Amino acid sequence: MNNPPGETLPGSTDIMVELIKVSKRYPPDVVALDTISLTIPRGEMLFVIGMSGAGKTTLLKLMATMEAPSNGLIEIGGEPIQDLRGAKLARLRQRIGVAYQDFKLLLNRTAAENIAISMEVSYKKPQYITKRVRTLLDQLNLADKHGMIAGELSRGEQQRVTLARAVANSPALILVDEPTGNLDAITTEWVMKLLANSHKAGATIVIATHDDSLYRDSGCRVIELHKGNLLGISGERP
Ligand SMILES: Nc1ncnc2c1ncn2[C@@H]1O[C@H](COP(=O)(O)OP(=O)(O)O)[C@@H](O)[C@H]1O
Ligand SMILES: [Mg+2]
Repeated sequence: MNNPPGETLPGSTDIMVELIKVSKRYPPDVVALDTISLTIPRGEMLFVIGMSGAGKTTLLKLMATMEAPSNGLIEIGGEPIQDLRGAKLARLRQRIGVAYQDFKLLLNRTAAENIAISMEVSYKKPQYITKRVRTLLDQLNLADKHGMIAGELSRGEQQRVTLARAVANSPALILVDEPTGNLDAITTEWVMKLLANSHKAGATIVIATHDDSLYRDSGCRVIELHKGNLLGISGERP
């Protein structure tokens, strides 16, 4: 069934993501994140900014449980994620929607199939999936790309399909990496409207970007990374 976002992660805490002194090193000697502590309340929309190489993508990958920290503790929904294995970890991942900077679409499948995947994995009804895919494609002005092979779409179209896939299953936590890198101003508005809808429905959203038009008038908290360190925090929590 379509659980409301935010109610389906383990635990009953009001905190969605907690990072305690988290570092990530890559061999031989890259410090991508350096002792980061960060609390993201359930239902927040948070922007992560910083220059290229600052550690934004690494931060999202750690929250997505796609990479493990070198040091420190990460909790999602009150549960330390390093203790999760097997079915529990798989279940958590089903509640996290990720739009990767490099998309990671299945290039030989259609736009619609790419968007449907997360819902199929969590056993949504076929009628629901069909309707949800059409709605998302409509909202992103991609209705006519429904049956097109993802590999044949433009970069901007692929970017929107990536976003639709990330939000499709109404995940409790949505992680979005540079969502508007290939988009013009109007298409950017559609993308931000879609994220705002997910936010209104209760999702916690983290957006990495260096497009200041996305967060300038949003009233959302903005955190800045610089060479793996957390610089400043501005804005208010919800
Ligand atoms: N898999 C990897 N192996 C080695 N170094 C990496 C890897 N991923 C990222 N890095 C390095 O970590 C730093 C942070 O990268 P990244 O998180 O991608 O930054 P951003 O997304 O802010 O541009 C950079 O110096 C980058 O080169
Ligand atoms: Mg990046």
